[in-house]
Amino acid sequence: MAATETQPDRILLPGRERLHEHDPNAVIQFRGVSKTYESGDVGLENATFSITRGEFVFIVGQTGSGKSTIMRLLLKEHEPTGGRIVVAGRDLSEIEDKKVPYYRRNLGVVFQDFKLLPNRTVYDNVAYALQVTGGTRREVREKVPDILRLTGLSTKLHSYPDQLSGGEQQRVSVARAFVNHPPLLLADEPTGNLDPETSVGIMQLLYRINRTGTTVVVATHDNAMVDRMRRRVIEVSHGSIVRDERAGSYAGTESTREFAALMRDEVTEPRTERFRARRRADAAADADLEPERDADA
Ligand SMILES: Nc1ncnc2c1ncn2[C@@H]1O[C@H](COP(=O)(O)OP(=O)(O)OP(=O)(O)O)[C@@H](O)[C@H]1O
Ligand SMILES: [Mg+2]
Repeated sequence: MAATETQPDRILLPGRERLHEHDPNAVIQFRGVSKTYESGDVGLENATFSITRGEFVFIVGQTGSGKSTIMRLLLKEHEPTGGRIVVAGRDLSEIEDKKVPYYRRNLGVVFQDFKLLPNRTVYDNVAYALQVTGGTRREVREKVPDILRLTGLSTKLHSYPDQLSGGEQQRVSVARAFVNHPPLLLADEPTGNLDPETSVGIMQLLYRINRTGTTVVVATHDNAMVDRMRRRVIEVSHGSIVRDERAGSYAGTESTREFAALMRDEVTEPRTERFRARRRADAAADADLEPERDADA
């Protein structure tokens, strides 16, 4: 009910069973999480929030506010210095080091700088992600072309990263993150190196992935885009959560095209005819891409 939506944090105790009991649909729970780096820098301070399965959530805040710290803690690249993090019912502190790679298979990750393998083609970059997690040759043959189609890269299979635009490279890294269909996708500044119009395409792609049921968490300081998208926004400032606004009631019900239109209103309004022409070309490409399951939205 609405009551549990608006006051979840006060009634929760830090025990794992209690967390489960009160929020069985939570995929991510931060309970009083702090991270002080060895240098003494505070990355996060007493952060409490919970993200429900299937949500699309932005984490915003100025540079140095703690967004990447949240991502790194979720990836278990760092350990918190206080508090508790529970992902899909598992307390991360209880996962042994040797089990961490298995845990990470549940997470797709997209970074600002793409992190593609420079000496491998688009196809091989994505195939590699499947192979390292034990994907068979048959799975590679079946899944890689599918995901490359979903991400609009079918014509670039044999290109190398340095032959692609920034937006295309980011599409490859989204494809790679999603080829295993992880339940949780984390993106840290995925549009940080991209122009506004290309950013719209990437966000649209992340939204499309979200609509398949995957929980998506995006850290960004692109406030204009976030405002326009009307998704849940968690804001960090100096390591503390200072805002947690739920999305409007219609959020998550738009088709990916309506979603992109929402964003473009804001992002491209003041732009030149050159941008508008590209926007029309992109819209045409998106129309081709739109998966069938979106048609009935
Ligand atoms: N490995 C580290 N060692 C020491 N301090 C760190 C480390 N990583 C982050 N910090 C510090 O923690 C604070 C939060 O950093 P974080 O990277 O989480 O910020 P951010 O919100 O992601 O910033 P940006 O928008 O610039 O990416 C900063 O003061 C930063 O200097
Ligand atoms: Mg960061």
